[in-house]
Amino acid sequence: MLEYKGIHYETHPKVYEPAEDTFLFAENLQIERRDRVLEIGTGTGLLAIITSKKCSTVTATDINPHAIDCAVKNLITNKSYNVELRKGDLFEPVKDDTFDLILFNTPYLPTNESERVGDELDDAWDGGSDGREVIDRFLEGLKDHLNPGGRVQLVQSSLSDIDKTIEKLNRIGLDASVTAREKFFFEEVVIITGKPKNE
Ligand SMILES: C[S@@+](CC[C@H](N)C(=O)[O-])C[C@H]1O[C@@H](n2cnc3c(N)ncnc32)[C@H](O)[C@@H]1O
Repeated sequence: MLEYKGIHYETHPKVYEPAEDTFLFAENLQIERRDRVLEIGTGTGLLAIITSKKCSTVTATDINPHAIDCAVKNLITNKSYNVELRKGDLFEPVKDDTFDLILFNTPYLPTNESERVGDELDDAWDGGSDGREVIDRFLEGLKDHLNPGGRVQLVQSSLSDIDKTIEKLNRIGLDASVTAREKFFFEEVVIITGKPKNE
């Protein structure tokens, strides 16, 4: 059993183990008590558990079935009864739903064929050849799932073009900026936050 600030959780060999990017995100979440939150790509469910203590409801999804199984156990351990889990690709499991805040620690690493391990763990970091494959699909679907006044927070790397994400968020009417950053050996990991322009 692993522990983060009093939350006890387990992981699985084919599920992303919470790491520096997860903890940077956890420390920089901008959640309001009344928020209905969507977390895409929940992995172990750790961020959904943290979020659920600060808002009304959380819907958490993942494309990896092992992640959903792992998150179910962790939600029960932590009595996070206001989190609902759904399996599927990006917005597909919430196609008719809208949210006040959408969170995603994205698979943001530029990855080529020889770097793939060939199982569900690839989904944790494989952002395709430019690192933006999943980020761009996420940004395309985002607007349709935000309530009026809705916000977004996502994690990505300096290796996958931070400015492009900010530009795309601006284009859908959000005021976007880097709200946290941490340098690692070969990259900088950032939290990008998008809010309505007049806020
Ligand atoms: C970097 S991990 C983050 C996991 C967890 N949120 C955390 O911060 O520790 C990215 C997660 O997104 C999931 N994921 C990747 N592509 C996805 C997609 N298209 N739809 C839903 N989940 C996806 C992966 O399976 C993985 O669990």
